[in-house]
Parts: sequence; structure tokens; C-alpha cells
Amino acid sequence: MESFATTALRSDAVAAAASQHPEHFRVLTGERPTGPLHLGHYFGSIRERLRLQQLGVETFLVLADYQVITDRDTTAHVRENVYGAVLDYLAAGMDLDQTTIFTHSSVPALNQLMLPFLSLVTEAELHRNPTVKAELAASGRALSGLLLTYPVHQAADILFCKGNLVPVGKDNLPHVEMTRVIARRFNARYGEVFPIPDALITSSPEVPGLDGRKMSKSYGNTIALSMTADETVAVIRQTQTDQERRITFDPERRPGVSALLSTAALCLGLEPTQVADDVGDGGSSELKNVTAMAVNEFLGPLRKRRQQLAVHEGLVHEVLKRGNEVANHVAENTLTEVREAMRTVY
Ligand code: TRP
Repeated sequence: MESFATTALRSDAVAAAASQHPEHFRVLTGERPTGPLHLGHYFGSIRERLRLQQLGVETFLVLADYQVITDRDTTAHVRENVYGAVLDYLAAGMDLDQTTIFTHSSVPALNQLMLPFLSLVTEAELHRNPTVKAELAASGRALSGLLLTYPVHQAADILFCKGNLVPVGKDNLPHVEMTRVIARRFNARYGEVFPIPDALITSSPEVPGLDGRKMSKSYGNTIALSMTADETVAVIRQTQTDQERRITFDPERRPGVSALLSTAALCLGLEPTQVADDVGDGGSSELKNVTAMAVNEFLGPLRKRRQQLAVHEGLVHEVLKRGNEVANHVAENTLTEVREAMRTVY
């Protein structure tokens, strides 16, 4: 496994290259539709995508519905989560002229790539993958075959469209590493088909949840982009803080207070310590007011656009229909190249 420093250095180099030559890059990234998108998604990835979009880089965005069932046994809310995410993307400013939004399960040729890819990795490599291990531990369940092979599936996500730039948070880096391995092995065995993609590590990859742990739907510590201002105030009020009047940034000792400071700071474009100084001796309740106001102000325009978009019935369906058409076309072309390289054209 490559060191984080090496990956980070390459990430910087590739970020510079993307601003110089956006036309050399194709971004593939995505989300698992397990719940509403939240501030962690915004600062961890959406903001970076908007920046790349402004540079003129073409983007493929997968709503990874098949990844939902890696560690759960229902698809009950997948559809509403997918629809909600599309609205969030559009409200955040993703431009459909440059971005193709699609769903895993609608693109058979993408999923078929997983078969030859599975032959290129060993079971031991899959068991060693840090993301698989972390997700397994978090799920508290037996390891499903799909969770074990999740990195290979994600390689198919990236390589089906020959994505060469993958903006991800730290927790998804091992997937990009595995994708590089798979692309190299495929090319070595069958001939050059795939680019070797680079990870682009996003600048604030870890946004704390309201309890100081990672912001994650499964911990129930998130601020959803789609919440109303009042709902936002309510979740922020529920944050577990402490009795000390003086507000200080101390993630180890004061996880709740520090998570609020980090959240407010991201929304205000300040450092957490600056926000702490501003709140001073105001105590937790003042900190909560400041944080709620910062979040609501920051998300206000997005939420307004989201409401306006939501009125258009059929809009999200149409966006996905078109995105899936494009993704299918691209995936079929790649699968044809793969068949030719493998000499399995009959
Ligand atoms: N696994 C990613 C997550 O948990 C979502 C995802 C699916 C993804 N396919 C991808 C990210 C391909 C980057 C590239 O959020």
C-alpha cells in the first residue's frame, strides 16, 4: 500500500495539472444513497466538484445504489435518497452540460466489468482493504460477498468511463489505490485499455459530526442540506456539549463544542479557534446560536434553489433518464474495448 504522503503529493500535482489542462481529465465520483446528503458531503466533495466544474472538467457522478446493499438488507429508501441527492446536486450548482448523473443499477455494462476485474485481485488483497475492514466493523454484521468485493465494484465505477481523476475523502483512498492496481494489471495482461486514475484528496476531507465523530448518516450526527432552518436549529441544540463558559477548540477533551466550532468555521470561512475567540465566554448556548446561524446562512441560497427545483415534477426523473442513457452508451463502448482486448468477441 502506497503511503498517504505519496498519494497526497500526487494529488497536489494532479490538481495543478487539472487547472492547466481541464480537457485532459475526466472526473468520476459518487455517493452511496443511504440517506440525505449532509454538510460533510458538501465540504468533503460537492464543493470540490463545483470547483472542477468551473475549471471545465467533465464529470460523471454515480449514485451508487448497489453499494447500499453491501451492508444492509433493504432498499426501502434508496429511491427517495437518489431523488433527494439529484436535487441537492442541482441546487448546489452542478451543471448538467458538464455532469452526467447516473445510478449503478441502470448501467449493466458497468457492472459486467466487475467480472474480469475480480479475476485480477486476490481474496487476501480484498480482506486487507482498510475501507472494507472499516465498513465491516461499522456494520456489526457478517461480511457479505458484495462488501468484500466493494473495492472492485468501485474500480468498475471509475474505469467504465475511463475516469482519471477521483475526488475523494481519505476514507475512500484505498479504493482508488485498488483501482490503480486493477487498471495496471488489466493493461499488462490484455493490452492498454484503461488510464491509471489519480485521487484528488479534498481539502477538508473530514468534517466532524455534531458529536465529534465523523459526520455520518449511520451515527445520526449530521446536518442535511435539505433540512429547514428550524430543523437545523433543533439538531444543533441537541448537540452534547459541556458546562464550561469559556469556549475553546479542543477536539480531544470537548468533542461536541469542537464539532460545533468546526462546523461554524467551515460555513463562515474561518478557523475554529477564531470562532471560539468570538464566542468567548458566551458558553454553549451562544455557540449553538452562532453555529446555527452560520449554517443556515451558508445553506440558505442552496435550500432556496432546492425548493424551486422540487416544484418541477418529473425533473429528477428526466435528469436520471438522460444521465443513465449517456452512462450506458459510454459503458457499452468500454465493454466492447474490453472484449476486444480479451479476445472474447464472437
Ligand atoms: N464509496 C463512495 C462513498 O462511500 C461512493 C462511491 C461509489 C464512489 N463509487 C465511487 C466514490 C467511485 C468515488 C469513486 O461515498
